[in-house]
Amino acid sequence: MTTEKLKELLNDMSLDEKIGQMLQVSGLFYGDDDALTTGGLDYFKATDEEKLRAGSILSISGAEKLKKLQTRLMEKQPHHIPQIFMLDIINGYETIFPVPLAQGASFNPDMAEKCAQVAAKEGAAAGIHVTFSPMADLCRDGRWGRVMEGYGEDSYLNSKMSISTVRGYQGKDIKEKGNLAACVKHFAAYGGGEAGRDYDTVEVSERTLRESFLPAYKACIDENVKLVMTSFNTLNQVPSTANKWLMKDVLRDEMKFDGVLISDYGAVKELVPHGIARDEKEAALLAVNAGVDIDMMSLAYIRNIKSLIKEGKLSQSQIDDSVWKILCLKNELGLFENPYKDADQEEQNRLCLCKEHRELAREAASDSFVLLKNEDTLPLDSSNKKQKIAFIGPFAKSHEVFGSWSFPTDPSKMTSIEEGMKNFTSVNSNVEALFAEGCQLFGHDFKLKDGRRFTYDPAKKEVLLSEALETAKNADKVVLCLGEHQQMTGEAASRTQMTIPEEQMELLRKVSEVNPNVITLVFAGRPLELEEASKLSKALMMVWFPGCETGNAIADVLFGAKEPGGRCPMSFPYRTSQEPCHYNRFRSGRPNNGTLEQGFVMGYIDQIDRTLYPFGYGLTYTNFEYSPVSLNGNELSEGKPLSATVTVKNSGNRKGTETVQMYIQDIYGSTVRPVRTLKGFEKVTLEPGESKNISFEITEEMFRFYDINMNFKSEEGACRVYIGPDCLTENGADFNLI
Ligand code: BGC
Repeated sequence: MTTEKLKELLNDMSLDEKIGQMLQVSGLFYGDDDALTTGGLDYFKATDEEKLRAGSILSISGAEKLKKLQTRLMEKQPHHIPQIFMLDIINGYETIFPVPLAQGASFNPDMAEKCAQVAAKEGAAAGIHVTFSPMADLCRDGRWGRVMEGYGEDSYLNSKMSISTVRGYQGKDIKEKGNLAACVKHFAAYGGGEAGRDYDTVEVSERTLRESFLPAYKACIDENVKLVMTSFNTLNQVPSTANKWLMKDVLRDEMKFDGVLISDYGAVKELVPHGIARDEKEAALLAVNAGVDIDMMSLAYIRNIKSLIKEGKLSQSQIDDSVWKILCLKNELGLFENPYKDADQEEQNRLCLCKEHRELAREAASDSFVLLKNEDTLPLDSSNKKQKIAFIGPFAKSHEVFGSWSFPTDPSKMTSIEEGMKNFTSVNSNVEALFAEGCQLFGHDFKLKDGRRFTYDPAKKEVLLSEALETAKNADKVVLCLGEHQQMTGEAASRTQMTIPEEQMELLRKVSEVNPNVITLVFAGRPLELEEASKLSKALMMVWFPGCETGNAIADVLFGAKEPGGRCPMSFPYRTSQEPCHYNRFRSGRPNNGTLEQGFVMGYIDQIDRTLYPFGYGLTYTNFEYSPVSLNGNELSEGKPLSATVTVKNSGNRKGTETVQMYIQDIYGSTVRPVRTLKGFEKVTLEPGESKNISFEITEEMFRFYDINMNFKSEEGACRVYIGPDCLTENGADFNLI
């Protein structure tokens, strides 16, 4: 539709119709026929008339269903304006990729882009127009359940992964077949909740907010992301959804975001329990004044905006501004010409979980596994030696390996380890795979977040254990498949103890007594305390929640068809109580040298001030050597970048891929600078004995920060660059910024 026609449409709409466009409701309210309320969500008391006025719908998908619904709802709309269908497509639609944190571990933005592209193709064919992804929230505290949905603790990595994801979803033009509009969330700093508690207060200085938390959202806006979602949290005592400074001054004016700003689920009405609005009417007033265009799942807007206008508290033009943005998004998606966009049941059936998509999922999975320990154990040699490998633990046969966000997923379509090993042994007769459950997931009753109840059966404990020990004794090697359940991560799943449940640790202890050749695979959506698991295992690998090709990808990596490609996207503490323990913290006046013998220094008296596995760390199946860093000069200035080079050599006897990481340090500043900050990485694949020069450009911009007067600029002085395999590398070189 031309802009002129769109303006005519806006001018012709009644106020009621406009306000309707600003409401988003759940698809659960719409049945297949004319029925409106089909059960569930009883707390949401919208009338049928209100539901019919809504301008967008969330959490429903399927080509046929959405086509019918679109037709029905358009008939009821005075100007027959089409709906936008939005869904949380997080790590895939039906083809499920590794969870975002695992994708972060891959340090492979191109892979993230490909995964997002496939997710968009499947989602679009299933009738979806917008995905509520990526989550660009910086995650520095592993207790927070939603670290699983983000890309980890580093702002640079987070930005790179987030923008690749946006690119993958949106393509060049969201109207084109197979593309979705992306919605970056949750603006802002939702990952900074106190003590890792979900929905809790965020208190962060404006300087840290701007230097660390905002860059990834901003990068997505520069990438032309179409929507931004507000966050649930209060930011420095003002809830984001009512935060005029954040939404107007920062998001709109500074960051130049001109797309649709949508609230998080019910976040407008939640301004009441936050205690900054007396009632939903005041909540609507605050949110509209903050520039929130769509009220997701609350009735604050639809019930109050009209009277707020009558009372002169809101103006017509504020509403017109929001509705205009919503109409523009519908237009950009091409919905006025084709309200069904790409919805096509045959295409959906053909694409979802097709061979090509599954192959990508398999590749993405091995690319995200992080090998934490390996005492000459992996890869297992299956070439000429007959051997029995026992897979023991609650994840050995589990299909619940896709994270907590995959709505349309049929768990039975996920390849379990058992199924992956069946595929493997069908072509490799040297390996015999044995299986035992070993233990129950937890040693107590546990209510999963999705409402299911896990009931602990004490009578099963001994039976499972003795079966596991027999199996372990019978095997050459044991692969223990342990971890947290996927419902222990994600929204509303913060933990005070980032541990493998004790019941499973007992199993590990007992099994390692009867067979010391233990390889432990850890399923999790966050870093866990792994010191003991590491001591009891010859090899230890994080597999996160790998998605629909779990079993095949694990077989690939265990037997060496692929190597584990991931690096820690977050630091792994010895103890949960060290959280947050991100690597790029500020320098202390009393630095800690990592021992307990030092007296009055920053840190603890009962825990060395180190992490078990640092950010960026991960082993490969070969070894790499780094030359010292060489610089092509010793002065850096604006417009005159430096180049830092290392020669990386594969000194092992297997082809392998190294993730070369570049960190910078500003040695003096008018405000305290971080100990170091990631500013570049590159994956390089080398044959045994092969070397390659890897160069990174260092620019003056990389050193800009909010100085003592809050000016964003660099300061002259001594600087350092480090290039190496993780954030602790001491392979550095000095130069001056002039
Ligand atoms: C979550 C969002 C999500 C929304 C819609 C909320 O509870 O915080 O991340 O996009 O629900 O499902």
